[in-house]
Amino acid sequence: PEGVEAVVVAGDLLDPADLEAVRFSVVMDCYPTAASRSADVVLPVAVLAETEGTSTDSTGVARPLSVACKAPGDARQDWRTVSEIAAGMGAEGFGFGAVEDISREAGLPQAGLYRRRAEAPPAGADPAVRWAWFRGHLLDDHIEGLRELAVEGFRVPEAAAARPGKTVRSPEEGARPFEILEKREVSPNNHEIVFHAPAVARKALPGQFVIVMADEASERVPYTLCDWDASTGTITLIVQEKGQSSRKLALMRQGDAAAHIVGPLGTPIEIRKYGTVVLAGGCYGIGAVHPIARAMKEAGNRVVVVTEARSHYVSYYERQLAEAADELIQATVDGSSGVKGHAVDVITARLAAGELVDLIVSVGCTFMMMITAEETRPYGVKTLAALNPIMVDGTGMCGACRVTVDDRTRFACVDGPFFDAHLIDWNELNDRRAAYGPEEIRSLLHTGPVDKFTHHACQGACK
Ligand code: FES
Repeated sequence: PEGVEAVVVAGDLLDPADLEAVRFSVVMDCYPTAASRSADVVLPVAVLAETEGTSTDSTGVARPLSVACKAPGDARQDWRTVSEIAAGMGAEGFGFGAVEDISREAGLPQAGLYRRRAEAPPAGADPAVRWAWFRGHLLDDHIEGLRELAVEGFRVPEAAAARPGKTVRSPEEGARPFEILEKREVSPNNHEIVFHAPAVARKALPGQFVIVMADEASERVPYTLCDWDASTGTITLIVQEKGQSSRKLALMRQGDAAAHIVGPLGTPIEIRKYGTVVLAGGCYGIGAVHPIARAMKEAGNRVVVVTEARSHYVSYYERQLAEAADELIQATVDGSSGVKGHAVDVITARLAAGELVDLIVSVGCTFMMMITAEETRPYGVKTLAALNPIMVDGTGMCGACRVTVDDRTRFACVDGPFFDAHLIDWNELNDRRAAYGPEEIRSLLHTGPVDKFTHHACQGACK
């Protein structure tokens, strides 16, 4: 805005051009960004694990954050920097000496930060009980009167606890191209969507992906095939609701249709007898390892699947993976189910104990795959990672999916998605994946959920 002479920005939420337009700009950030390159002064700030304070969870409860490790170099907690700049400029109301002062001003007395709730049950122990929980909370804590209906706490009857069967329609029965035949939220923000896509289902192989456009205006987003059935002409994807385009898919319902699905794309993973194959899946990767596990087992391998999730309630596909693999190990960061820790902890513990592993395949977020690569490197076990960079055409034409592997430029869409994890330039990949982060945030702010998807029940009457 006109008249502004100096700005202090936390993060990269301003365009470099705006920063250059003011006489003096300060950017506080923990990583170099386009904004920080345009700033007059960069003040390094601590990252989450180096910070104390509170974070507000999805139910609105403020929870305490403690410092888990020391910030490197001159990096400082951002609230301290803001307070000191404000004090230096003579502003009042920033005299915070400790994080508790801020919590108090925000109306979060320390006692309220530690609100206890009942412990969520270990998911693997009794799947029937887990249906009484939603996002880590007991349903009867949230729904008034539900407890009165139950004799010993809320329990979903056996029949309801069973997984719903698939209801698919053939084209003869009227299914349209790319119609959603079935959809359910398998864990918070992860949606299993069964699409009618016979041409894709006929040719799909383990490890391949499709590019989906929710509507004519949406991005082209790659999703790994979690399952397919050539006889019914269906493909199954796990869509993690993350940005605007995945939100559009997440808001669609059974009977809606995506604008386009192209695939199967990518080079399938090589299925042959290796010996012992360990498949590590996190987030969308839990679903993505499913067809690989099935095919590797059929090829005569001993298949161990290790899933990783923050807590038991964000994990999914236990039954499918237990059936597809010889062994299923769940790792949860909070220890609420299976082994406490990350998938890589399970894998390296086994390698350290001398277990023979012939191939490790890691599918999940970039950070998880990068850590798996680094931790398995000393053991010399062949490790593959399924890279999922930004893609446009998915057929080797645009170059958007460039990655560097063994000092060579490769296209993840056609040369991959599987590459030797020990040879990938992970830093470059992280940078390229983050390239449109600010635009993604802005698009979510300026574009609400798409009307035609959100007003199903009311037909728009709610306005
Ligand atoms: Fe265009 Fe890979 S997505 S070349």
